[in-house]
Amino acid sequence: MTDLLLLDTLRQQALGCTACALSERRRNVVFGEGNPNSPLVLVGEGPGDKEDETGRPFVGKAGNMLDRALADNNLSREDVYICNTVKCRACDWSTGKPVNRPPAEEEVTACRQWLEPQLGILAPKVILCIGAPSARNLIKKDFKITVERGKYFPCRYAKTAIATLHPAYILRQSTQTNDGGYSLLVADIGRAWAAAQRLMLGHSAKA
Ligand code: URA
Ligand code: SF4
Repeated sequence: MTDLLLLDTLRQQALGCTACALSERRRNVVFGEGNPNSPLVLVGEGPGDKEDETGRPFVGKAGNMLDRALADNNLSREDVYICNTVKCRACDWSTGKPVNRPPAEEEVTACRQWLEPQLGILAPKVILCIGAPSARNLIKKDFKITVERGKYFPCRYAKTAIATLHPAYILRQSTQTNDGGYSLLVADIGRAWAAAQRLMLGHSAKA
């Protein structure tokens, strides 16, 4: 069982973090939420506008798609734990208005001080990396999301890790006749969940 007191202590500490420049403009530190005893932890990229506003992960457009992909596997947010590579919103302010951008390497590195102990406390069987920045942080530096998604990789923080396409990427790719990779997101969540269930029973990740 996950030590909830330890996890909450870590959250309280993270809420005051000023270790990188993302602390300057953030409204909320988005630590993570869900079922801390789940065998499956989803790790996204970082908060967007809605997440920064509410302090909750994946609650905007990308989050709606993630909820749908979980539901297509008969799962809900309460079945898994959801967090991010960086806990504060990364955006470019050069035009005066905030434009989301991927987190910089030094921001990802700085935020490992929260992600690493968080994953250590959660001790999931499987980590599902959502998007390339997450996979590059937790699986390997040169991870190629389009060719290596859906495969099992060794990971220091779980029995295995799998990566999938980011809903924001799918939203950009999709057209009237092309799902943009949504079916792959659904399939990868299904694979990650099935592997987690097998590992809970003492079996190997692969079927
Ligand atoms: N995209 C992410 O990677 N994480 C969120 O929490 C929201 C959007
Ligand atoms: Fe701290 Fe992470 Fe926020 Fe940077 S992104 S200020 S390291 S919590």
